[in-house]
Order: sequence, then C-alpha cells, then structure tokens
Amino acid sequence: MPFEPPEVLLLGPGPSPTSVVVQRAQSLPLLGHLDPAFVPLLDQVQARLRILFGTTNALTLPIAGTGTAGMEALVANLVTRGDRVVVGVHGVFGQRFAEAVRRRAGVVVEVRADFGTALAPDAVVRAIEAGPTSLCCVVHAETSTGVLTDLAPIASAARAAGALFAVDCVTSLAGMELAFDQLGVDAAFSGTQKCLSAPPGLSPVTFSPRALAKAASNPDPVPFYFDTKLLTGYFGPDRAYHYTAPISMIYALAAALDLVFEEGLAARAARHRDAAAALRRGLAVLGLEPLVPTAYATPMLTTIRYPVGIDDRAFRGHVRNVHCIEIGGGLGSLAGKVFRVGLMGHGARLPNVLRALAAFGDALTAAGVRVDLAAALAAARTG
Ligand SMILES: Cc1ncc(COP(=O)(O)O)c(C=O)c1O
Repeated sequence: MPFEPPEVLLLGPGPSPTSVVVQRAQSLPLLGHLDPAFVPLLDQVQARLRILFGTTNALTLPIAGTGTAGMEALVANLVTRGDRVVVGVHGVFGQRFAEAVRRRAGVVVEVRADFGTALAPDAVVRAIEAGPTSLCCVVHAETSTGVLTDLAPIASAARAAGALFAVDCVTSLAGMELAFDQLGVDAAFSGTQKCLSAPPGLSPVTFSPRALAKAASNPDPVPFYFDTKLLTGYFGPDRAYHYTAPISMIYALAAALDLVFEEGLAARAARHRDAAAALRRGLAVLGLEPLVPTAYATPMLTTIRYPVGIDDRAFRGHVRNVHCIEIGGGLGSLAGKVFRVGLMGHGARLPNVLRALAAFGDALTAAGVRVDLAAALAAARTG
C-alpha cells in the first residue's frame, strides 16, 4: 500500500500548508537541469527571489537542502579561522548560527537576550565596535520564540565597522517585505517551507559582491557543495554543471513564487499581519497570553504561554489527535511552557485561525478550564 498521509492542518513552525498548485507542480515530468526548457524557469525563480530579498545580488539562488544548508553555505564562505564574529543569540536558531561559526573556527562573540525578548540593537552595535569584527550574524524572525529583530541599526553598525552582515530570514522571507540592499545586508538564507509554502528542501540564499569578495579571498577550504565559485557556475550565466539541481523542488518553488507574485508581497504581508491579529484577539478571549508583545512579534509565528496547570503534551496531543492540527511546542528554555502557532504563507488565513481557536478552546475545556469559545471566534472574526 502506498503511504497516504492523514489530512493534518499544518499550523506549526513549519512546514506550512502548500497549495494544490504547488503540489501539482512538484509532480510534473522531470527535465534535465541543463535543459533549454528548464533554464528559463530557473532564471525566473532567481529573479523573483531577488525581489523577495530586496536585492540585486547576482548570486541569489535556491541552494539544495533545507534552511540549515543555506546557513552552512553562508558560514563556510564568510568565516575564516580566527575571525571575530558577533552573533545575536535570543533563541535556538541564534544558538545554531553561533555554533555553525564555531565549527568553522570563528571566534564567536555572543550578544544574548532572554528567549522571548528582543535583541537590544545597542548591545549588538557595542559588540561590533568592541573589536575588529569581520562578520555579524542575526536571526530576523526567531521561530523558536516569535521575536522579530530590528535589522537597521545592526546593519549600519556592521557597515561602519567594515564587517559583513549576514541574516537568517528563514521565517520572514515572503511573509513580509524585505529590503536587504537598502539595509546593507551582505548575505542571507531562507527556507521554502515557511512563508513561501513550498515543501522543505531548498534554501534561498543571496550573497552581495562584498560577501563574494570575502569568499574569494577566504584561505580556508569551503565544502565543494557550497563553494560560491562553483555555485556561480550553475546559478550564473554559464549554467555549468555543479550538482544535479533538484528539479521537482524547483518546479514547486516556481509555482509557490507564482502565487506570491500573483498576490503581491505587500498584500501577502498584510494577510500575515491580519491573520496574526485575528489569532491574538481570539486568544485574549480564551485567556491565552502571547509570550511576545505585538510591537516586536513575528506576524507569521505566535508563541503562547500555557496557563498554569495545562500540560504541553496533553494540550498539543488533543489539538493534533482530535482536531488534526499540528502546532509546535516550546524549544530550549521554553520547552513545556509555551506552544507555537505558525500562520505562514498559504496557511495564514482566517478560517485556519478559527479552526485553531476552536481546537485550543476544546483542549482547554478538556483540561477543565471554562472558556467562551463562541466569543473567542467572534472576536477573531471581527477585527
Ligand atoms: C529561523 C530559523 N532558522 C533556521 C532554521 C533551520 O531551517 P531548516 O529546519 O529548514 O534546516 C529554521 C527552521 O525552523 C528557522 O526557523
């Protein structure tokens, strides 16, 4: 019997639900990765990714692998043994960024903030200025907490110090408008399974000319797969073989990008904000408190504190098993204390918010908490 997945509404931290248009695209017949019919599709994918990143960087491409592959590609090219690298750490993915730099023998200066709080840009700026910094790395939308980082002051401090600035935008790309050239971002990586609503398996990345200059002069060997010179061979005008591009994934990404561009990024960003606001209105009526104030929260992912006495496993188990909805648990120091709701890409819609609230209300009721579910749904509906 072939595997038949159950119908589960994906409202966790990723993957997000995909449209049937994307699912169909993924099952189209294969072409060779150098086929003249395939290359224009790749051109269009790269051009559209540039628009989403807000960049004109020539080397902008969907690298094969999930978001972590994009991170490895950036770090491998931009870190030389002994480089002083400032990394913002206020969640699990900042920790991962720091660890990746350490594994390339970079000297990491961590600027920390408690999980669930914003990174203080001043603290990052001071750390950049405190020594000869070659690179600064931050996570834009920290999916482990739901905190959005203010990139502008960090970008200008990095530029003033002559450091490169690298950003993890795994969760923000295609869910909000980005203007990375204007800000002075030198390199960034994302993932296809969040606000792009394509399956996991590709990591859109971009490298500025400054970043490529660093990569070209990096004396440390870079893994073959992530070598920017070799990536430029295939993802540049030559279209020379580097590795066999994952054709079906690129079909799916191309279809996902069609949907993004049909909708328009501004409208898509507004849809994410509206869905998050509807969720918060309903949560307030259910007596559920978001961890992060709206002022610095990511619209695409909301982290919610458990009321005293609510068990994480029982709550999420009820939501998944009874209501067929996937949500995320807390990570790191937040494990067991919070749950995470992703309203990303195709999933960021009011009907999904209402389904989620109904499931949360029912899970609370099952745990013996009195809630007014009808009022919560009405609050979510009427913004
Ligand atoms: C902010 C952030 N960075 C990095 C990653 C790692 O991406 P992946 O799991 O696609 O390798 C994730 C995944 O959730 C993420 O949310």
